[in-house]
Amino acid sequence: MKYLIGASILVITFIISIFFIPVDWLNGKEIPYDDEQEGLSKQIVIRFSHVVAENTPKGLAAQKFAQLVEEKTDGMVKVEVIPNGSLYKDEDELDALIHNEVQMIAPSLSKLTGLAPEWGLFDLPFLFQNDQDIQKVLSSELGNKLLTLNENKGIKGLALWSNGFKQMSSNVKPLRQPDDFIGQRFRIMPSPIIGEQFKAFGAKPVEVPFDQLYTSLQEDKFDGQENTISNIYSRRIYGMQKYMTVSNHGFLGYAVLMNKEFWDSLPEKVQQSLEAAMAETTLWMISESQRVNNQQLQLIEQESSIQIHHLTEQEKIEWYKTLMPVYHKFLQNVNDKAMKEFVKNRMKQLETQ
Ligand code: LMR
Repeated sequence: MKYLIGASILVITFIISIFFIPVDWLNGKEIPYDDEQEGLSKQIVIRFSHVVAENTPKGLAAQKFAQLVEEKTDGMVKVEVIPNGSLYKDEDELDALIHNEVQMIAPSLSKLTGLAPEWGLFDLPFLFQNDQDIQKVLSSELGNKLLTLNENKGIKGLALWSNGFKQMSSNVKPLRQPDDFIGQRFRIMPSPIIGEQFKAFGAKPVEVPFDQLYTSLQEDKFDGQENTISNIYSRRIYGMQKYMTVSNHGFLGYAVLMNKEFWDSLPEKVQQSLEAAMAETTLWMISESQRVNNQQLQLIEQESSIQIHHLTEQEKIEWYKTLMPVYHKFLQNVNDKAMKEFVKNRMKQLETQ
């Protein structure tokens, strides 16, 4: 009787277990990786925090990078993208990166000027004439040098991304001539060079973190601002400003950064996959940021009553004549010879236009 009971238990256990064995295992195939699988601790998770919306060039590029990394590492590395500053805001994300609370961020280059004044290069007004110009500099030796600039602070630079050109907007009056800026308060990112730009216009710069842009505008903390179309659109700034000038006067770029210790701890093969995914994303973002900014300019035209002016060539000359002192200020604060040479050449070009 005892043997009969024992044998019955064995048979029942065998039958039940069959239902729980994965079909692929029975077929001799390897089980594809998924999050529930045992051995999850072996998966490398990279938390990538940024402050903008998902439907912006940076938001889309972060998702693209995550998808490419998953493909290239067969799911071994997972990039968790955390948008909208929902984890770390403008003011905190650099610290969070340095302390490895997140492994990746992509702040605007202007927000790195606190680490080294050289980053202010990209805030010089009318530094670039067009998108090709931007790409040439971002992928040049100068760009590469900047990427390694903060390694001694525990920051590994992975890439420079472009979100294209910034435009001006105001609630007070249309911005056509330099005089139109006088006395107005403009929101700026924390960058001395951008501050100098508005001072040269006779305006007052007001530093406001990105996540407080909308509420600060509601609370009348500033009159105008500058940003790319994608940020003006996604933060609904266009709904609260009366005038916008498509001026292409400034550039908004990002440095994609990783915690250096974390990077150094990664197996070489993983580093190579990340580099390949980053190179592909950076290339993809060039046309993607143009597409998003163009499309969202059309949406702003359709959805709002904001008056849009396109800066004329003559007005542009007036603007950069007024803004030239900003170049001199920048040159006083940097030592890099190649960078100085580049800036002086650009000044010459602007003066002879
Ligand atoms: C801003 O603060 O306006 C931008 O840096 C936001 C961003 O990251 O595009």
